[in-house]
Amino acid sequence: MEWCRAKNYKLIMQGVRSARKSQKRSQTSDKSQNVASKKMKKADPPVQIYKVQSLYRNGVDLLLRSDEPHAEEVIETIFKEYYKNVLPRLPLQQPDWNNMDSVGLLSFLDIFNTAAEKFKEEVVQRRRALLTPARWQKVHLDSDSFKEGHLATVLARMLSAEDERVLKKHYKSFSNETYGATTTQQMKHLLDQLGVKEDDVIFDLGSGIGQLVTFTASYANVAKVYGIETCALPAAIAAKISENFQRLMNFFGKVSSPFKLIKGDFLTAENSELIKKEATIIFMNNLRFDNDLMDDLKEILHFCKSGTRIVFTKPIDNTRMTEKNYVEHFDSYSDTSDLDSIECNMEWTDKTIPFWVTTMRHEKIVEKAAEYEAEKARREAKEEARRLAKAEKATLITSS
Ligand SMILES: C[S@@+](CC[C@H](N)C(=O)[O-])C[C@H]1O[C@@H](n2cnc3c(N)ncnc32)[C@H](O)[C@@H]1O
Repeated sequence: MEWCRAKNYKLIMQGVRSARKSQKRSQTSDKSQNVASKKMKKADPPVQIYKVQSLYRNGVDLLLRSDEPHAEEVIETIFKEYYKNVLPRLPLQQPDWNNMDSVGLLSFLDIFNTAAEKFKEEVVQRRRALLTPARWQKVHLDSDSFKEGHLATVLARMLSAEDERVLKKHYKSFSNETYGATTTQQMKHLLDQLGVKEDDVIFDLGSGIGQLVTFTASYANVAKVYGIETCALPAAIAAKISENFQRLMNFFGKVSSPFKLIKGDFLTAENSELIKKEATIIFMNNLRFDNDLMDDLKEILHFCKSGTRIVFTKPIDNTRMTEKNYVEHFDSYSDTSDLDSIECNMEWTDKTIPFWVTTMRHEKIVEKAAEYEAEKARREAKEEARRLAKAEKATLITSS
């Protein structure tokens, strides 16, 4: 299973390796400057600005500061993942990423930016510019909606935190605040199964660092995507991810669906009103939410509009439905079915977590009431028949 986790983590964990690599780069850069080297060792390396020309139609060039977390690895990933088809078509030496220091990176980018500018002009002159942005991306960059949303989110995460493992250490295991991230591959699979539409408003309740929100905003064409997260640390990282994601969307020349990451408790009056009023799809990775939290959450979900679909990883109501409790039971107001999960769908575990979807259907209570009424009537009829049979038997005995 190790490969599986490695696959999910591949790009994120480049960040961990990159910390070391970045250090190496800035050290080499220091050396090359060779000014009062002994004193310089203690000083911070000078901040460089890396510029990457956007090859996307309508794209804006990306400017990264060398002191942003994983800046150099983000650039490396852009070239390896997005520009790999175009690079061999440009008149320049292919970069040797393993032996590239910050000075080398700056001069490579200089050469690349000039060549890329010329490439775009030539393509435009050959009238290939008539391609739509989506077609341009397919033809020149072998890119699609999933790849862009996934990588924009991964790169935004790399630029926003030096090491995300801090989240794991910060919060208690097995509590409402236990952090665990769902992969973008699983989110894509869920969105595809749900068949989201332009007027859908999607909420991630307990959105952590907000990676599902940014991914969804990029991948799906919907009215709005919200994430609500109560814990300070993931919410602070989410705010940075949101900014960096926007920079990357500009680089891709892409407009995402509107999204908002809210720092706060989804149980507050303001947030719960927003959920009840606007949600058409609710996602919650609630595996570690305790019974008290689920009871409070149920009160909100119960008042969501009929037709609202709620995706979850732990049953919303885990009590058994009976004639006595069916009026309060959540399943009397909603229909639940399985969703298909992909293997290793969480970033922090090798286990595959199942997902379900329940669709709110308030009128179902009428059917449930009729079902239990019919059941009661059947039981009473049976009882009456038994009583009559007993009375008849008693009459027969008496008369004989
Ligand atoms: C398992 S993480 C899920 C993160 C993200 N939704 C995903 O699947 O990748 C659950 C998150 O819910 C948050 N949470 C728990 N109770 C909450 C509440 N009342 N309001 C907002 N967030 C809450 C936790 O802090 C945690 O970050």
